[in-house]
Amino acid sequence: MSLDAVLSRIDSDLPEAMDRLLDLLRIPSISTDPAFKQDCDRAADWLVADLNGLGVKTQKRTTPGHPMVVGHLDGDGPHLLFYGHYDVQPVDPLELWDRDPFDPQIEQTAKGQVIRGRGSSDDKGQLMTFIEACRAWKAVHGSLPCKLTFFLEGEEESGSPSLVPFMEENAEELKSDIALICDTGLFESKTPAIVTMLRGLLGEEITITGPDMDLHSGMYGGVAINPIRVMSRILASLHDDEGRITIPAFYDGVPELSDELEAQWQGLAFDHNTFLGDVGLSRPAGEQDRTPLEMIWSRPTCEINGIWGGYTGDGFKTVLPSKAQAKVSFRLVGDQDPLVIRENFRKMIRDMLPEDCEVSFGGHGASKASMTETENPAFDAARKALSDEWQVPAAYVGCGGSIPIAGFFQNILGTTPMLVGFGKDDDAIHSPNEKYDVESFHKGIRSWARILEALT
Ligand code: BES
Ligand code: ZN
Repeated sequence: MSLDAVLSRIDSDLPEAMDRLLDLLRIPSISTDPAFKQDCDRAADWLVADLNGLGVKTQKRTTPGHPMVVGHLDGDGPHLLFYGHYDVQPVDPLELWDRDPFDPQIEQTAKGQVIRGRGSSDDKGQLMTFIEACRAWKAVHGSLPCKLTFFLEGEEESGSPSLVPFMEENAEELKSDIALICDTGLFESKTPAIVTMLRGLLGEEITITGPDMDLHSGMYGGVAINPIRVMSRILASLHDDEGRITIPAFYDGVPELSDELEAQWQGLAFDHNTFLGDVGLSRPAGEQDRTPLEMIWSRPTCEINGIWGGYTGDGFKTVLPSKAQAKVSFRLVGDQDPLVIRENFRKMIRDMLPEDCEVSFGGHGASKASMTETENPAFDAARKALSDEWQVPAAYVGCGGSIPIAGFFQNILGTTPMLVGFGKDDDAIHSPNEKYDVESFHKGIRSWARILEALT
């Protein structure tokens, strides 16, 4: 009965909740670009004010990077922590947006209403689902049903450089019975899901230098080594014809799927034709002896994210470049060790380097994969709450993306993370025209109210 009152309150307050989200979306909190430092600060201030308004004692906490927002609310019952991130990805290429990414709007589309704007899905819309659920609960009951901690980060999209030191320094304050994380999606955009497996991430930047300066390719072409040719040969050799990664010892620590998980995933009947068809593709391009779901959730990858060098402007310039550069990232699973992989990758490249070329490397984030045990009864309770809201049984799923904090909750604080989110595959996160369905927002808020009820 009391849950019904909260759900009704959520329904009637939806227009105001959307206004609040639009307000937050107007702040361009791009964490990776120093030009937006003040805006990251403003987004943190916005959240501090909103949470304080809810009666949660909240502070902006400085770090060497962007601030954390930490709030506490005393209460009886279990101690839940909620994590989300208020920073967003850069917007480029800006010309592919149909509107200003930071002038968000509600749009009617063929598939229903959407909230359009950078961060609408990843992750401001998602983090507000939880805050709005708390707001409705408080409006109905006057207080929340448990002890709550809010932990909101502003550096997730740039590799969370301040996160581990902050968690270590404030470990006692951040410990809780369970850490709820809202930064993932529904399964195939229809089925509510709890993510139990996340891939790790390792980033490498490679610069290969040949001649001291750019050369005329008529004068020197043929006799001088071309670093782009060298780079291309190296990058092309990272996969064999079957899609396997060729770096020595790369597959050390990659587990086979347990029979139980394999059966569970088969039950999900993933339609890879639709998944690929939606982005104009048809053929799974990973390891050819694996299923598409394995390729996304339980197998490691090596992807070339960017490659540049020489002349890439309009027209043509017959240059033989001095340098070639590339960014390569790896998604990791099981017990794969990012630091060992980094060493083996760098050694493989050095070994392939011809005379007269030099290579230098830059490293970005290195996080291991993480896996959550679902024995804790909170998982069954949350699963039932989600199934009730969406009227479809909730699934335990993997996630191809990386959310390093899930592993940190487990390893640094000893707190079990529970990942629940409402993003859809076509939200275009990190891309132009990002959106969040009003359905995701509305039912996401309702889902959290049900989960709060179920866990307390
Ligand atoms: N929200 C995403 C993680 C995600 C991606 C969830 C795809 C569900 C589907 C998160 O903000 C993100 O993008 N993480 C980065 C890692 C980070 C260290 C830059 C990623 O996965 O690339
Ligand atoms: Zn995110």
